[in-house]
Amino acid sequence: MRAAGQVAARVLRDMAQMVQPGVSILELDQYAKDRIAFYGGKSAFLGYCGYPAQTCISVNEVVIHGIADSRRLVLGDIVSLDVGVLYNGYIGDNAKTVVAGGCSPEAQRLLTVTETALCKGIEQARAGNKVSDISRAVQGWVESNGCSVVREFVGHGVGRRLHEEPQVPNFWEAGKSPTLLPGMTLAIEPMVNLGKAEVKILKDGWTTVTKDGSLSAHFEHTVLITNGEPEVLTWPD
Ligand code: MF3
Ligand code: CO
Repeated sequence: MRAAGQVAARVLRDMAQMVQPGVSILELDQYAKDRIAFYGGKSAFLGYCGYPAQTCISVNEVVIHGIADSRRLVLGDIVSLDVGVLYNGYIGDNAKTVVAGGCSPEAQRLLTVTETALCKGIEQARAGNKVSDISRAVQGWVESNGCSVVREFVGHGVGRRLHEEPQVPNFWEAGKSPTLLPGMTLAIEPMVNLGKAEVKILKDGWTTVTKDGSLSAHFEHTVLITNGEPEVLTWPD
């Protein structure tokens, strides 16, 4: 899992360096394909439930699962890049939102709120805590900053398969929540909207956008529960 996390992190880092006005998102996806192969991995997304691209590239009001096409980035776009790789039998999954050239102060605030929400969630990823401790920390931070968390999609356990138990919601729900144990690996992934929480899925069956057209950001790490501090497996070295 450490090795797979490292490959996923490097591909995401490399891909993010390519984001600038004028580049097409298809070029970004093809570059990701090259980098995944360079590091000896395979896309964990391509073919998953029929998903048609190497990565997910979600621009502005697209929340997640944006499919690369000929669209070219323009100055001020915010671009969520989601990279999952299979490496030596294990999966690393990570995402981040970056800007094409530069962005508005309100877009920048959304990115900072979302990345910090991920950090707040990771901070709770400790043996003995419950999954709901992660959820509560993320939601509390996001909502106290006037943004909203998406409900329809959640983080997840990750291992030999992309989506394993348990689900890791970014919002608190009444009821029982699993206890975290050393050795578990979780993909923690807040999806945060500047406007309302509601999303809709476009006719392609994947592209998920905010209902109100507001900007959305997404940050994700694969995290190992240990006997001590959480270990983020998707920091690039
Ligand atoms: N990081 C997302 C997830 O874990 C990306 C999945 S895209 C899919 O759910 F195509 F693989 F579904
Ligand atoms: Co994920």
